[in-house]
Amino acid sequence: MIEEKQLDIIPTSRVARQFARRLLDWYKEHGRDLPWRHTQDPYHILVSEIMLQQTQVERVLRYYPCFLETFPELKVLAEAPLDRVLKLWEGMGYYARARNLHRAAQIILTEHGGRVPSELSTLQALPGVGYNTAASVASFAYQGAWPVLDGNAIRILCRAFLLQGDPRIRAQHKRLLDLAKTLQPAKWAGPFNQALMDLGALICRSTNPQCARCPLSALCAGYASGDPESLPRLTPRPPRPHFDITAGIIWRGKHFLIAQRQHDKLLGGLWEFPGGKQEKEETLEQCLRREIREELGIHIRVEEPFMSLKHGYSHFRFTLHAFHCTYLKGRPRPLGCAAFKWIQIPELQRYALPRADQKLAAALRAQVGC
Ligand code: ADE
Repeated sequence: MIEEKQLDIIPTSRVARQFARRLLDWYKEHGRDLPWRHTQDPYHILVSEIMLQQTQVERVLRYYPCFLETFPELKVLAEAPLDRVLKLWEGMGYYARARNLHRAAQIILTEHGGRVPSELSTLQALPGVGYNTAASVASFAYQGAWPVLDGNAIRILCRAFLLQGDPRIRAQHKRLLDLAKTLQPAKWAGPFNQALMDLGALICRSTNPQCARCPLSALCAGYASGDPESLPRLTPRPPRPHFDITAGIIWRGKHFLIAQRQHDKLLGGLWEFPGGKQEKEETLEQCLRREIREELGIHIRVEEPFMSLKHGYSHFRFTLHAFHCTYLKGRPRPLGCAAFKWIQIPELQRYALPRADQKLAAALRAQVGC
């Protein structure tokens, strides 16, 4: 039975040695040349690993150099205003990472003398640093023998050792971690972790794995089974719910309103065209009028639709319906936002906006040609 097979996954030391040697030899020749692999600076490595959480390497490559040019040292980041950090992060998504990294830099400066900790548990105590990020920093910057168990490593191990259980289930995850610890050579912990990431990204991909070019195929039980692609076996997640969300470009002469999202909410600290989620039995126009009353305490007239666009986050999708609006009355107050500003179109570029609002801003700029 499947469960029976899984009880015995600890490889012999000979298999473990072969696995690591093949993997490391392959990595020497085929590993990706990435900028965070040219540094030993723990702060630079921490920045890269936070950026690489939930974000593709290609996208991080567009942000990492500029971020480090602006904040070359941890102290510079710790002492910078959060707005500046968010602006540089704009477009990369998952903005809680930027807030956490900024806070982590401040904690490292005040509590650890400005030196990024090397101990796994101390790293994990920093905001936004989970096990994998801590293991990456500890192994890349300090040669700590901690295996990283990201999606790539999980996929490779499930296939190589024909592990059928869902790796998201705690017991299976623990088995995988034990297995990775057995396979990882203590002296080469960092390169071993990087090699698994690269093999997963380049060869042992979720779909269409390139087994003919894989250095592990001779050891791979998934390959021998003839259907490596069916692993890992993930129980499907429930579909993401969909919401309709309104946003207003609320004009008073040449100025319009933008609002800063509350700091403890999703996308906290970013600026947006104010609005909110449509309730049942409410038209989009009614929704927008209500949201603006609740958020800013003002009355508006909803005019013509500006544009609609679809966007998604990890746990929900939404359609954003933007309308031109006219300010009618009331003194704006930050009732459901952290702050608000009356601005003109060219000023938009100074503010960090969520991706969907960036699209509205770009369309608005294009419409008036600036
Ligand atoms: N994903 C997370 N950390 C990474 C790294 N150091 N290199 C490539 N991809 C990664």
